Amino acid sequence: MTQIDWTALRAAAVDAMTKAYAPYSNYPVGAAALTDDGRIVSGCNVENASYGVGLCAECALVGNLHMTGGGKLVAFVCVNGAEATIMPCGRCRQLLYEASAPEMVLETVSGIRTIDEVLPDAFGPRDLEAVRA
Ligand code: THU
Repeated sequence: MTQIDWTALRAAAVDAMTKAYAPYSNYPVGAAALTDDGRIVSGCNVENASYGVGLCAECALVGNLHMTGGGKLVAFVCVNGAEATIMPCGRCRQLLYEASAPEMVLETVSGIRTIDEVLPDAFGPRDLEAVRA
């Protein structure tokens, strides 16, 4: 298994957090992940005057993943403005699931967890393929 440099990953998440555009919540978030070919991809939250269309940091991270060569995520961390680890929201767990390598790990508020632990019995691409003719 790939060796995970959690310190570097966390530093990338903190750096991403400093670029957040969060004038409405004043809650900047930065997310960073290691890809299966060793890149670090990251993202920050981007809010909007139309509050409901704001983007979580994970949205930018997944965009960054595809824009920089694709692949799958093997490790993930997400921090707030106090540089504390936070959990990805429910929608973002689904986003991460789609982009995850098997056994992807997340640094969470309760330690290292796999994607399957933070999104049990997930709905995913295989469920669509199962009914495709
Ligand atoms: N936020 C994220 O960027 N990721 C999460 O997983 C949790 C929430 C953002 C959305 C919003 O801009 C701010 O945090 C407050 O909810």
